[in-house]
Amino acid sequence: MTFDQTNWVWMNGEIVPWGGATVHVSAHTLHYGSGVFEGMRCYETEDGPAVFRMDAHLERLVASAGAYGIRIPYSKEELAEAVCATIRSNEFSSCYVRPICYHGSAGLAVHPRNCPVEAVILAWPWGAYLGEDNIERGVRVTVASWTKFQSRMLPTTAKGCGGYLNSMLAAREAAAGGYDEALLLDESGNIAEGSGENLFLVRGDRLLTNDERSSILLGITRDSVIELARDLGYEVEIGTLTLEDLRSADEAFFTGTAVEVTPIRELDGEMIGAGKRGPVTERIQRAFLAAASGRDKRYAGWLHLVAAQPVEMGFIAAD
Ligand SMILES: Cc1ncc(COP(=O)(O)O)c(C=O)c1O
Repeated sequence: MTFDQTNWVWMNGEIVPWGGATVHVSAHTLHYGSGVFEGMRCYETEDGPAVFRMDAHLERLVASAGAYGIRIPYSKEELAEAVCATIRSNEFSSCYVRPICYHGSAGLAVHPRNCPVEAVILAWPWGAYLGEDNIERGVRVTVASWTKFQSRMLPTTAKGCGGYLNSMLAAREAAAGGYDEALLLDESGNIAEGSGENLFLVRGDRLLTNDERSSILLGITRDSVIELARDLGYEVEIGTLTLEDLRSADEAFFTGTAVEVTPIRELDGEMIGAGKRGPVTERIQRAFLAAASGRDKRYAGWLHLVAAQPVEMGFIAAD
């Protein structure tokens, strides 16, 4: 199945066919990137499809909107039900889900005054973002010549549409150089993150990752991996990461909703560790997938079952 075949979209409160989910060319978001979005994954579990960490994603969506002054006309509960309705309509057992809220059409002054806020949820099956083979083999990464924008330019912890031009430039540059992905540095020359992923290093029994002080989006996969790694007995240190830290790491991996946990095997032609997926990365990958697919019941609270219908109000019969 491709991106757009026989697919249903939730748009402003209604399920519409893919082809009917359109935006006018005068929409503010098209001109200025004035929208916020999320990326979540729905996994097949023995209880049916379930969205991984839906609450955290919707909280970040609302926080991203707040950072840009975008007032989403739906509650988190309504959006959660809309996500489930979209997945159900498409009869997907697993898929990627893309909620987006943006300023529509009412004028093209930079201030989006009077432009309505529209909300859309797309869903489609999406396999390994950086290639199926690379889940095992690991990706080849290059340092981007573009610097990750910092918080005096745009809110870095918000997932704003316009901010992704920074990521797009870096990703295009990496692809043109024959690499799988770009790594962006922050304004101080420390590592920020990939064009759409957070970074973890492995050194012995320790995992190292950075935080918002390095201009990263605080990934929900990152947060989940920190918890999973600690539960597995690894120490997780959060601090600045330099390129030297990466070059001398035993292992390195990316985390993100799209990439899940993807090993990094090379940086600008130099091998990281043994130049292949390391044992710690593999253990984290397995733990992540066991949690996301509901096989590890300790993390059942991270899953939002799609089949669950909203609770209907009614009378409780007295006997
Ligand atoms: C720039 C950037 N960093 C990190 C992430 C990872 O975030 P998450 O794990 O919440 O998907 C993403 C993916 O959304 C991203 O686009």
